[in-house]
Amino acid sequence: MILVLDSEYKKHIEDAAAVIKNGGVVAFPTETVYGLGANAYDESAVAKIFELKGRPQDNPLIVHVESLPAAKSIAAFGENAERLARRFWPGPLTLVLENKGIPSIVTAGLGTVAVRMPDSDAALSLISASGVPIAAPSANKSGSPSPTCARHVQNDFGDSLLILDAGECGIGVESTVVDVTGEVPVILRPGAVTAEMIAQEAGSAEISSAAPGGTPPSPGMKYRHYAPRADVTVVEGDRAAVIEAIKFLYDKALKNGDKPLVMACRENRKHYGKRDVFVTGSETDPREAAKNLYSLLRSADENGYTGIFFEAVKKEGIGFAVMNRVYKAASYNVIRVTDKR
Ligand code: TXA
Ligand code: MG
Repeated sequence: MILVLDSEYKKHIEDAAAVIKNGGVVAFPTETVYGLGANAYDESAVAKIFELKGRPQDNPLIVHVESLPAAKSIAAFGENAERLARRFWPGPLTLVLENKGIPSIVTAGLGTVAVRMPDSDAALSLISASGVPIAAPSANKSGSPSPTCARHVQNDFGDSLLILDAGECGIGVESTVVDVTGEVPVILRPGAVTAEMIAQEAGSAEISSAAPGGTPPSPGMKYRHYAPRADVTVVEGDRAAVIEAIKFLYDKALKNGDKPLVMACRENRKHYGKRDVFVTGSETDPREAAKNLYSLLRSADENGYTGIFFEAVKKEGIGFAVMNRVYKAASYNVIRVTDKR
C-alpha cells in the first residue's frame, strides 16, 4: 500500500513507525533510492528483509540513524569517521565502522557495521518515530535496479508492503560506501560523495580495486547488480565514433529480430534519427543521468527492449558512480572506440 506523504504526513509516518516497532518491514524514501527497512535490533524483522528481497545472507545491510550521537551508540568513530560524518551527514555517505552491538544478521557476521544518516525528512521522521536504528537495503528484489520512486517498489513487492511515498529520489544512485576502519578511507562503492570530496576532508582516500574476477572487499560487489532483463552494451570513447558504433550495433540487432534501444545524452539525441532513444540527461551534468538511470533501465524492461546500447557518461563527479552501476548492469560488456584520423 502506498501512503503519499502530503497532508497526512504525520499520521502516515506514525503508521509506518508502528509497523517497525511491531517487527514488520516498510519501504521508505531517502535522497538516494528507496529503502526496505526494519528495526536493526530485531533479528526476525531483519530476516524478513532478506527473505522479501531474495538477498544472500552474506551481504550486510546499512543501518540508518537520525543523528551522529545515535550512530556513535552503535559504532566506534575514529577521527576520520567523525570528520566525514560532520561534513557529509545528513547525506549520501555510508561509513563502515567497528560494530558496537548491532546483531550479526545485519552485518553478515563481519566485525564492522555500515551506518548512514540520510538527507530525507521522511526517512529521519520515520527513524525518530520508530525510536530505533533502521536496517535497510535498497527496496528492490535482489538483482534488479534500485527503486527511485514508490511505484518501482510496488512493482517489485506488490501491494501488501507499506510504502511511504515522497516522490522521486533527488540523487538516484545509492550512497557512497567508505570503510573508515583503517588509516586511509577506502571507497567500497562510489556515490554522490566523491573520492575527491572525501580526500579533501580526510587528507586522502582510496578507491577499492574490486574488479570482475577480483576479490570483492564489499560483499555486495560480487553479485550481479542493478541489472535490467535487457542485455546492456556500454560504448565509450570519442563522440562521433561512439554514435557510429551504436548506430551500427542497433541496426544489426534490429535485423536479427531483437528490440534494441539507445541510451544517449540529450546533445546526441538527434544523431540517432528514427531509432528508439531514451535520453539519460545533459552531457554536461552527470547528476541528471544519476537521477534517471534506474528509472530508464526499468522502463526499458517494461517496454520489452532486449538490448540497450548505452553511451558512456563522463566519469566526473557523480558520473563515476553512474558508470560503476552501468558497467555492472552491462556485466562489464564494454566497447571502446576512437575517431579515425
Ligand atoms: O543509498 C543507499 O545506501 C541505500 C539507501 C536505502 O540508504 N541503501 C543501499 O543498501 O544501497 P544496499 O543494501 O543495497 O547496499 C549496501 C551496500 C552493499 O554493497 C553492502 O555489501 C555494503 O553496503 N555493506 C554493508 N555493510 C557493510 C560492511 N559492514 N562492510 C562492507 N560493506 C558493507
Ligand atoms: Mg541494493
